[in-house]
Amino acid sequence: MKHPLRKVVIPAAGLGTRFLPATKAVPKEMLPIVDTPTIQLIVEEAVRAGVQQVIVVNGRGKGAIEDHFDRSYELEDTLTRKGKKDLFELVRKISDSVRLSSVRQKEPMGLGHAVLAAKAAVGDDWFGVLLGDDLIDSEEPGIGQLARVSMQTGKATVALMPVPDDQVHLYGVAAGKALPDGNITVEKMVEKPPRGTAPSNLAVIGRYVLPPDIFGILEKVKPGAGGEIQLTDALAVLAQEGRLIGVRFKGERHDAGDRLGYLQANIAWALKRPDLRDGLLAYLRKVTQ
Ligand code: G1P
Repeated sequence: MKHPLRKVVIPAAGLGTRFLPATKAVPKEMLPIVDTPTIQLIVEEAVRAGVQQVIVVNGRGKGAIEDHFDRSYELEDTLTRKGKKDLFELVRKISDSVRLSSVRQKEPMGLGHAVLAAKAAVGDDWFGVLLGDDLIDSEEPGIGQLARVSMQTGKATVALMPVPDDQVHLYGVAAGKALPDGNITVEKMVEKPPRGTAPSNLAVIGRYVLPPDIFGILEKVKPGAGGEIQLTDALAVLAQEGRLIGVRFKGERHDAGDRLGYLQANIAWALKRPDLRDGLLAYLRKVTQ
């Protein structure tokens, strides 16, 4: 990548069945961590990394996401009339921080297929992909860590993290040669390897920086794990060509797509909030005695 990262794609077309009944009428991306929708945290990570354009890939019933990043005249007007300047600024900042557009994924055919739906919107440019289920709490934004490595090396990047052996089958898995800085030149990638067959315990966490020719690769990828078009299978092509670096990112990752991970993320974020920390700690001490 020759220029700083400007565009990112956020796939948000999933049905969120793990969070039913909450997700029957509300997109899972709008479920809050404390008081902020998970997708806003993801957009903020991208904005902190210097990104100017966000393309959300959504499906039916996801209008709340667009509304959330749009101006809300009625709300802003009411807050102004009531003199609630802080809240007004909080709400205004969400719509002013970034240019957001959306494209539709018409059929749920997998993550690779969702990314392909953004082809025309991305155009001939390098771009990032952020998966909303993975929250990364870090000083340098997760996607920014990858973009930095892509700028330095000219190669695509994917975020990697070691996971316990009994969880490897839930992820995309990468293996390759370790570089002096701890990252790896990826040689092999497998999506959700059957138990006992994973080439390593380095799991793909949902951050990617990709070149525009990934779209041509995705167009040729055959359905893989779960009968879906997998992004991992397109990355495997980049890996074979020596064009993919696995980045051992710094920061804490929360799996907000999992009920327990979601609760943990809420607690972790609440503990960082001066207005909530003491009260929450007192409560946790009381209920764990
Ligand atoms: C997706 C990717 C997988 C990756 C995971 C990270 O899987 O396909 O490679 O490891 O996200 O969260 P999903 O969790 O959507 O099944």
